[in-house]
Amino acid sequence: MTEPLDFGRIDPIYRGWAEDYLRMSGFDPAAFLAAPQPAEDEMFFKALLPNFKGDRGIGAFKFVEATVRHYQALDQIVQQAFGGFDGVSSLLDFASGYGRLTRALLQRLPAERIWVSDIYAEAIDWQVRTFGVNGFASVPDPAALAHDRKHDVIFVGSLFSHLPADLFRAWLRRLHGLLTPEGVLAFSVHDESILPSDQSMDGSGIRFFPWSESGSLDPAIYGMTYVTEAFVADAIARIAPDRPLSWRVFHKGLYENQALYVVGGADRDLSGLTVASPPMGGFERATLLTDGSVEFSGWAIERTPGASLDMLVHVDGEPVLSATPTGDRPDIQATFPASPAPPLGWSFRLSRAQAAEDKPIRLTMRSTSGLETHAYARMPSDPALTYSGWSRRALRRG
Ligand SMILES: C[S@@+](CC[C@H](N)C(=O)[O-])C[C@H]1O[C@@H](n2cnc3c(N)ncnc32)[C@H](O)[C@@H]1O
Repeated sequence: MTEPLDFGRIDPIYRGWAEDYLRMSGFDPAAFLAAPQPAEDEMFFKALLPNFKGDRGIGAFKFVEATVRHYQALDQIVQQAFGGFDGVSSLLDFASGYGRLTRALLQRLPAERIWVSDIYAEAIDWQVRTFGVNGFASVPDPAALAHDRKHDVIFVGSLFSHLPADLFRAWLRRLHGLLTPEGVLAFSVHDESILPSDQSMDGSGIRFFPWSESGSLDPAIYGMTYVTEAFVADAIARIAPDRPLSWRVFHKGLYENQALYVVGGADRDLSGLTVASPPMGGFERATLLTDGSVEFSGWAIERTPGASLDMLVHVDGEPVLSATPTGDRPDIQATFPASPAPPLGWSFRLSRAQAAEDKPIRLTMRSTSGLETHAYARMPSDPALTYSGWSRRALRRG
């Protein structure tokens, strides 16, 4: 039987990195990590963890990193539309699952102003019990949803990326109907650029495949969906045919691979809205040099059009130097189709004393967009370097 993810029992190195990432992002790590993530959470145990060979340390770190990325997108919208979370009287995280975002929201909003909903009623019951937020169970058919309260912000991470065409349109209309006139609805989709290479888009602008990570949801209502911007534009136009709604799209705005659409309520103008995407990157290699120093190297990518990166190295929380760019990384480009800037290689050297085993090494990728991402490494005692971007890799000597 699967055990819940207890953050207090994971590899302490990853726990330390997760805590540092949260602190650097303005969160209280103890509160964020207090509740174990239930064993029933398919997103964590069936979608995320298998990517890291079941390693709960890496999985927990990636859970935190992904949650912060979600939050960074939502925060930018809330800052611009409402001047901050204090200006939001009610926020709904729809299709919230077991509420990774709720952990972050609880540090910005009183629980009474947070609403969560999912088709998994037990996930909502768990969040209501554990976090004290408001919740209501969702249903397969949007017309049957028993909820009429209006919300200033409705966030829908990775549900529309799984819906067939008729449900895509119907859920969009239903959820938009729950917005206050000045409200904002943000939802993510897979855009056509990541359609599997053996498939092609047809004139409908949507491809739906009836399979997903879920072991329990009917694949006819929850599969894998890829859409064109024209399809989404048409779905938005159908909500209010007589009065065009204001909306924006930010490609790669959520997750590594999802576009983020933001649609305004009847009285909301979103023409000035911007949502930057956090940089990404990670350590790949540590090489012990003959003079005793250690060279670290890896990759990074700026994902916001017009922005640029610098990369600051910290040892034990103290800034020590900047990483040096070492040229383009076309091998990584394939993972970021249509990125505004090419991925870069970087490297830096530390003395053996600076890179001592017990000292956490952090690379902060700081974008001129204002967003930051952090990657971590540590000198291994056994030759197994651990870092945030991928999985464990061996230390190279040379
Ligand atoms: C890919 S997960 C994303 C979960 C969460 N937003 C996150 O990013 O961690 C998709 C979620 O959509 C939920 N879902 C599927 N159909 C739904 C429906 N009709 N109404 C509400 N939630 C639904 C699933 O149960 C699942 O929790």
